[in-house]
Amino acid sequence: MYGDGRVTTGEEGSGRGRLVGRRVLLVVSGGIAAYKAAELVRRFRGEGAEVRVVATAGALRFVGAATFQALSGNRVRHDLWDEEAEAAMGHIELARWAEVVVAAPASAHLLARLAHGLADDLPTTLVLATEAPLLLVPAMNRVMWAHPATRANVALLRARGAVVLEPEEGEQACGESGPGRLPETPIVVGAVLSLLRPGSGKDALPAVLAGRRVVVTAGPTREPLDAVRYIGNRSSGRMGYAVARAARRAGAEVVLVSGPVALDSPAGVRAIRVETALEMREAALAAARGADLFVAVAAVADYRPARRETGKPAKDPKGALLALVPNPDVVAEVARLDPRPFVVGFAAETGDLEEHCRSKLERKGLDMIAGNLVGPDRGFDTEENALHVFWRGGEARLGPAPKDELARRLVALVARRLAGEEGS
Ligand code: CTP
Repeated sequence: MYGDGRVTTGEEGSGRGRLVGRRVLLVVSGGIAAYKAAELVRRFRGEGAEVRVVATAGALRFVGAATFQALSGNRVRHDLWDEEAEAAMGHIELARWAEVVVAAPASAHLLARLAHGLADDLPTTLVLATEAPLLLVPAMNRVMWAHPATRANVALLRARGAVVLEPEEGEQACGESGPGRLPETPIVVGAVLSLLRPGSGKDALPAVLAGRRVVVTAGPTREPLDAVRYIGNRSSGRMGYAVARAARRAGAEVVLVSGPVALDSPAGVRAIRVETALEMREAALAAARGADLFVAVAAVADYRPARRETGKPAKDPKGALLALVPNPDVVAEVARLDPRPFVVGFAAETGDLEEHCRSKLERKGLDMIAGNLVGPDRGFDTEENALHVFWRGGEARLGPAPKDELARRLVALVARRLAGEEGS
């Protein structure tokens, strides 16, 4: 899984120059899969990309610099202190040159160094110094991949917007079998294409939110009853994630406050994971101060259990009564900030859409509300959706369309209204 959650194999149309003129910086770290990086260089070049390879000291113990040099057509860099190479293209220049940085294979050690922001060699320094999207392609022994330290490092990197591919299952060089193998070359090429897409192709979005700070809430909240049980809802987070991705593609700096969902953080977006409505309120209010736009897509639980039991209480054969207390209204609190961002709410309704939306618009002090009808087969947990958007003095219908497309149209509409408000 990566980027927009879709897995593109990249198989179709491979070698058709899909990366013509694109600048790929390939970081190779030390692991037996380093030899497969040579094939990646070939494939990137075959697609028309310009490739520069930076290797860790460990990588060069597995594969000689001459191999990468011959395949990439450029000198391989590995030393931060190489005066000759620095004179030709300084490391900051190289970091700026890259349109995408791909670390393949990314060893457990490289992931750990990147997660902690170390800059103790050329590859890690370049990753810190670049603004290009980062694609990490891990390969390692299956136990190292499953280790809590690696899991935590991967989670941290994803939360910061790096795209981390899942290693493949199978026979490993060490003789064991499990997840840890470098994904096949077409998968990696597909991920690169997906990361480079914002600037070109069908997903292009004009930079209507360039320089804007945007906060999006997404997913459900979980309200704990005891140590293991909770009250939740069926929100998948897909619509919120699509809005965050579209805002990023439109040039915004995006913070995504997300309840528990099974989605990867969109590339280039800062994701803050929360569980309860109270945690969502705290994270959302902190992020919303100074933001230009706040889009509340989360399905926040209206109530939470009045008390949270300790441990896991056994069932009572006589039954049980659950006392609930109301949760704060996150979007309404954001709308009361001063100064406040432009605030967009969502409303999932089963009927009387306009009436409910217009009343929520006023009650919560929103600038705009996107309503959608939900039922057994539409709205929540589905791929397609349709929105009816209302603001004071206007309305617009968007879709039905896939959630990514709908999010793009919504972002374009919001950007127009936002610019209009400021201009009036
Ligand atoms: N919302 C929120 N905090 C809450 C509840 C809702 O921020 N505690 C936001 C949602 O993210 C959404 C909007 O409010 O943008 C509308 O959500 P909805 O559940 O329809 O609103 P409610 O006030 O709960 O309305 P209802 O009375 O229909 O339950």
